Amino acid sequence: MKLLITGGCGFIGSAVVRLAVAEGHEVVNLDALTYAACEENVASVAAHPAYTFEHADIRDRAALDRIFAAHGPDAVMHLAAESHVDRSIDGPGAFVDTNVTGTFTLLQAARAWWEGQGRPASFRFHHISTDEVFGSLGPEDPPFTEASPYDPRSPYSASKAGSDHLVRAWGHTFGLPVVLSNCSNNYGPYQFPEKLLPLFINNIKHLKPLPVYGKGINVRDWLYVEDHARAIDDILHRGRVGETYNIGGHNEYRNIDLIRLLCQLMDKKLDRPAGTSEQLITYVTDRAGHDMRYAIDATKLRDELGWMPSLKFEEGLARTIDWYLENDAWLESVTSGAYQAYYDRMYN
Ligand code: NAD
Ligand code: DAU
Repeated sequence: MKLLITGGCGFIGSAVVRLAVAEGHEVVNLDALTYAACEENVASVAAHPAYTFEHADIRDRAALDRIFAAHGPDAVMHLAAESHVDRSIDGPGAFVDTNVTGTFTLLQAARAWWEGQGRPASFRFHHISTDEVFGSLGPEDPPFTEASPYDPRSPYSASKAGSDHLVRAWGHTFGLPVVLSNCSNNYGPYQFPEKLLPLFINNIKHLKPLPVYGKGINVRDWLYVEDHARAIDDILHRGRVGETYNIGGHNEYRNIDLIRLLCQLMDKKLDRPAGTSEQLITYVTDRAGHDMRYAIDATKLRDELGWMPSLKFEEGLARTIDWYLENDAWLESVTSGAYQAYYDRMYN
């Protein structure tokens, strides 16, 4: 298949690109190269004859029309987004622009292309979304299912909920063959160090404070990024049109427990005395509107498509730490320049 993947220079998008090339697909990676992008993330496939890069913005309809006409994709895998909750609190406008208006513009371009081709039933528009659209759970609540009501509570999750609604509407009203997936917290290589795990790995490396929001008792469900990419690939090939699939790791952790585990592993890997990293833990003012708990019921994906997470969390976490320690140059390059100004504004 020829796949148009948006956001392919980001964290999850690059894992999807690398997997798609390995699976023998032709890949067109469309990315605006925002602060969160890194071309190094796709360096392993950049010279592959099946790979093309298009530097474009999903809000630019003329560029999208040109790209659809030039490449004639069989499917769109839409991952381009503003993705960090803290930035959405700091500056929500970019989230509405890219996640809502950008998704609308991409839907219109995809629809025009698809209608021009005679509305092939085999076409897919896969929207990659988040579990945050379902809101926040209490400690004893059952996990989110595909039928859970939407209750987004941050500018980020509201903008992703808006884009989910647009995608479903384009399926319902115009017949565009859409499919959606809502995933829990991803972790793994190439994640921009504004998110919890790479930020804390980097800070531990440099013996800098670990800013834990509130009491550290918020719960997230963690999934290794390559397992997410595999789920997206399964949904592309075997998912049913018009359906939504929840994707999760069956792997809930309170932030503080995860951070303590990370500290212990990092002490060992860096050959430092036990307890060194834990001393860096610093409780700071809580995130505004901080969702307490996310948890995903991925039964539908397992029963229909046979997907399960492949990695145990301790194994995935150890692999992730090793990757960041071995890829010092990557971490240094993405934490230089504008990152320092961001860090100072958010944390100092
Ligand atoms: P990311 O921030 O690492 O990467 C986003 C990519 O999109 C970057 O390469 C960026 O340059 C590109 N982009 C941003 N705005 C663009 C625009 N206007 N036009 C074209 N490209 C643009 O994000 P991520 O963590 O890899 O998340 C990818 C997708 O998966 C997002 O839609 C996100 O909502 C969703 N998601 C993320 C997680 C997670 O844990 N990170 C979990 C579930 C769902
Ligand atoms: O659930 C899926 C979502 O997971 C994705 O849709 C988002 O794109 C992704 O960013 C992620 O959102 P979170 O807000 O859960 O991830 P983050 O890594 O920012 O934070 C994880 C938890 O750690 C959260 O409870 C906030 C807390 N935290 C985060 C940072 C950056 C801290 O305590 N300190 C920090 O410095």
